[in-house]
Amino acid sequence: MTTTHFIVSPSANLHGHLRVPGDKSISHRAIMLGALAEGVTRIGGFLEGEDCLATLQAFRAMGVGIEGPQNGNVTIQGVGLHGLRAPREPLYMGNSGTSMRLLAGLLAGQTFASVLTGDASLSRRPMRRVTEPLSLMEAQIATTPAGAAPLRIQGNSALQGIDYTLPVASAQIKSCLLLAGLYAQGRTCVTEPAATRDHTERMLTSFGYDLERQERRVCLHGGGHLRACDLEIPADISSAAFFLVGASIAPAADIVLENVGVNPTRTGVITILRRMGADITLLNERQAGGEPVADIRVRSAPLQGIPIPAELVPLAIDEFPALFIAAACAQGETVLTGAEELRVKESDRIQVMADGLRTVGVAARPTPDGMIISGGRLGSGVIASHGDHRIAMAFAMAALRAQGTIRIQDCANVNTSFPGFVPLARSAGLTIDTVSS
Ligand code: S3P
Repeated sequence: MTTTHFIVSPSANLHGHLRVPGDKSISHRAIMLGALAEGVTRIGGFLEGEDCLATLQAFRAMGVGIEGPQNGNVTIQGVGLHGLRAPREPLYMGNSGTSMRLLAGLLAGQTFASVLTGDASLSRRPMRRVTEPLSLMEAQIATTPAGAAPLRIQGNSALQGIDYTLPVASAQIKSCLLLAGLYAQGRTCVTEPAATRDHTERMLTSFGYDLERQERRVCLHGGGHLRACDLEIPADISSAAFFLVGASIAPAADIVLENVGVNPTRTGVITILRRMGADITLLNERQAGGEPVADIRVRSAPLQGIPIPAELVPLAIDEFPALFIAAACAQGETVLTGAEELRVKESDRIQVMADGLRTVGVAARPTPDGMIISGGRLGSGVIASHGDHRIAMAFAMAALRAQGTIRIQDCANVNTSFPGFVPLARSAGLTIDTVSS
C-alpha cells in the first residue's frame, strides 16, 4: 500500500489570512442529527475529511438521501428518528472514533441489527467505555474479547433511560448516551467529571430538542422529535491549533485564522498558549449556528514552559501534539499531568510524541499520564507518526524552529481531519513537500 511522507525544511516565517477546514466534531453531529430530523437540513462549512465522510456514508447506507458534499455544502433529506433502514453490510468507520462511539449509541435503539468496523488503529481503541453504559440501558452490543471493534449491535427498541456518571471526561461517551437516550423510555442523564465539548447539546437545541442542562450534567427524555434546520459550521480550532503553535514559535509570524469555532469547551489550547506567553488576539467575536466564532490573530512570541493545569486538559485534549511542540520551543520546563486519555487516541500520543521529540534532540520524559518537556534546540530527524494525523501536523510545524530537515513518515491520515493541509501550510510559509512510497 502506498502512503505519504512529509519532508519539511526549516523556514522562519508564517503569514497571511488562513481558512482551515470545518470543525470535525460539529460536522459529524450535523450529519447525524440532520439524518434523524424531520425535514431538509442544509449544512455549510462541512469538513470533507475522511472521518466525517465515513459518518456520511453510514447514513447513506441506512437509506438517508444526502447531496454533496460540494464545497462544504451538504443537503440531508431527514428521515425522522424512526426512519433509518438496516444497512446491507457492516458500516466502516475508518479511523474515526467519534463516528464509531456516537453511532453505537444511536444504533443501539434501532429495530435492526448492525455492525461497526474500523481500521487497525480504531480496532485497537477501547469501546467498553460506551458498550458498558449502553448495556445498562439494555442495549445489546458485543465487542471483541479485548473490548474493541467490530461492534455487533442487535438493536433494541425498548432501551431504558439511565442516570450515569462518566468515569472519564469524554464528550464521545456523553454524546453516545444522549443519542441512545433519544430512543429510550424515560429520562437519560449524564454527569461528567470535568467539562467536555458540548456540541451535541448545542446542536440538539438547534434541532428543537428539549434538554435540561446544569454545569456538568445534562438530561433529556426519549420519544421527542428533531426539526430540520440550517447549520453553518465554523473552522476547526483543532486544525487551527497547528497554526496557533506554528505562528507562536516561528521567528517571524503574523497570521489571522478566519472564522474559527471558539466554543469555551474547546479553547484550552488558547488559554494554555497564552499562559506560555503567546500573542493571540480574538477578533470579530460572533455567534454562528449556535456556536461562538472568531477570527484569531497570532504573532511570534517568546514562550515559557508552564505546569499545565489539570482542568484545562479536556478542553485541549486533541491539541497536545501541537502543544508539545510549543513546549519544546519554550524556555524551561512544561509539565503535563492528568492526560492519560492521550494514550488511547489515534495513537499513544504520549509515547509517540516523546519518541519524536527525542529524535529531534529535545528532552522529553513520558509519564503514565502526561509528559515533562524541557525546551531546547530542535535538530533534524525522521519521525514515525504512527499514522496519526495530529502527530504528523505537529511535527510539520516544528520545522519552523528546527536546525535541519524533519521527515515525517506515514502522513496519509492527515486527510482524516485536514484535507489541504500541505498546500495551506505552504501558502503560509512552510517549506513542506510530500513523497509517496
Ligand atoms: C470528540 C471528543 C474527544 C476528541 C475527539 C472528538 C468528539 O474524544 O478527542 O477527537 O467529537 O466528541 P473524547 O471525548 O473521547 O475525549
